[in-house]
Amino acid sequence: MSKINIFDTTLRDGEQSPGVNLNKLEKLEIAKQLERFGVDRMEAGFPASSKGDFEAVKMIADTIKNTSVTGLARSVKTDIDAAWDALKGADEPCLHVFIATSPIHMKYKLQKSPEEVIKLAVDMVSYASKKFSKVQWSAEDASRSDLAFLAQIIEKVIDAGASVINLPDTVGYGTPADYGHMFKYMKENVPNIDKAILSCHCHNDLGLAVANSIAAIQNGAGQIEGTINGIGERAGNASLEELAVAFHIRSDEYPFETNLNLIEIKRTSDLVSKLTGMHIQANKAIVGKNAFAHESGIHQDGVLKHASTYEIITPELIGLSSNILFLGKHSGRHAFGDKVKQMGFELSEDKLKEAFGKFKLLTDSKKEVTDDDLFTILTEIQTDSSAANKYELKMFQVQYGSNNIPTASVELLTPNQDIVQEACTGSGSVEALYATLDKLIDEELELIDYQISSVGGGRDALAEAHVQMVVNGEQMNGRGSAQDVMEASANAFLNAVNRYLIQKHTEEIRKVTTNH
Ligand code: KIV
Ligand code: ZN
Repeated sequence: MSKINIFDTTLRDGEQSPGVNLNKLEKLEIAKQLERFGVDRMEAGFPASSKGDFEAVKMIADTIKNTSVTGLARSVKTDIDAAWDALKGADEPCLHVFIATSPIHMKYKLQKSPEEVIKLAVDMVSYASKKFSKVQWSAEDASRSDLAFLAQIIEKVIDAGASVINLPDTVGYGTPADYGHMFKYMKENVPNIDKAILSCHCHNDLGLAVANSIAAIQNGAGQIEGTINGIGERAGNASLEELAVAFHIRSDEYPFETNLNLIEIKRTSDLVSKLTGMHIQANKAIVGKNAFAHESGIHQDGVLKHASTYEIITPELIGLSSNILFLGKHSGRHAFGDKVKQMGFELSEDKLKEAFGKFKLLTDSKKEVTDDDLFTILTEIQTDSSAANKYELKMFQVQYGSNNIPTASVELLTPNQDIVQEACTGSGSVEALYATLDKLIDEELELIDYQISSVGGGRDALAEAHVQMVVNGEQMNGRGSAQDVMEASANAFLNAVNRYLIQKHTEEIRKVTTNH
């Protein structure tokens, strides 16, 4: 068995998925879960890209202690300095610096000659090595680079101090044969390659990201980069949960060991999906809703006779227990607190009180409160940024039916603490509700996407809504849950607007404090 390092980039490449914008607390919650999942390194963000990203990386680097934390930088000194300021509090400050090496990227994007690219790469790795205890260097678009040139630049950056060399398939163009060959070539042609670990990073444009990653490690890579649920730019990145389970189930073919705790897969996947608003397709391998469902009569019959007839993975392996029924109407605060801890949440006294209130409210209308319900409530409370500067839903009513025009009336508490009311019609119930909210909110709003799903199963399941909106020209996502679909929809809409307001408010505070 050879040990493979797992590098998670859900919070950086994953966060680059269209429409995803996580706040600091959401990123921290995902980081804590990645630590539980057992990744060896997590890329917490790109500190020079925005103040928000800088703060999130810093918070994660200062908090997470059992997983090494890294941040991305272009080959620019100011990027490396920003990353250092964000990461210096980490136990083992680690930098990920990159530059493109393919002819297309060097000529059109960087407008530099190959010699200039080598010089810049070496200078930046040397500069970074004076600050960071570990430097990972990436050759962007490596899979479309000239192999001899790649070997030359790799040798030089290793001499300059890089101890991990990452060779991304940036545009998802590689195939298992040619991507694997690139790693073999570097192993055989870079004289000092034994001083560094080779790493793969695959995008999924042709649906080959997992297969290409496996080809890379079969040809000498010692690290795999990927994301939870395979989220990321365009078609996404290699899906870490798919790789982890493939290694486990087919250890006969893949003698690779990782530090991953497979039992944390389901929870990690759920959390990332919930917070990013990126739904998982039902037939997605390992974590899709149907991954363990047997529909046809022949399959059901087989599984009943012996599970191994059609089941190669057990749900328990990934932590998919049968949605345990836990507390009820009469459960007290103490039992509730124990359950919260058992589920891995660390809530402040105030947040615990708020969660208990929501739980009690739910038990009034829902007979069986499940782990999934509680997970939704706790995640919402744990990642809620601030109590100030928000719109709050005070009351709403929606009337609709097959023979009348849908009409909504809404009462809101505004950030200035005024109560405002409005009513509107729409061609559907959600449209009427959203038109009313739009009228009441003092910002320029455009709805881009709306999705509703149920948490767990059953007729009285919680509803969870996700929206993507443009608020004053900025893309925001929002999510909300409630037992009623209309209320969940209203909550998601307000959540997107509130996230915008909180972000603006934080930026203003930052400006004032940096001016003094
Ligand atoms: O896909 C890519 O090339 C990247 C680099 C920045 C590592 O994400
Ligand atoms: Zn990438």
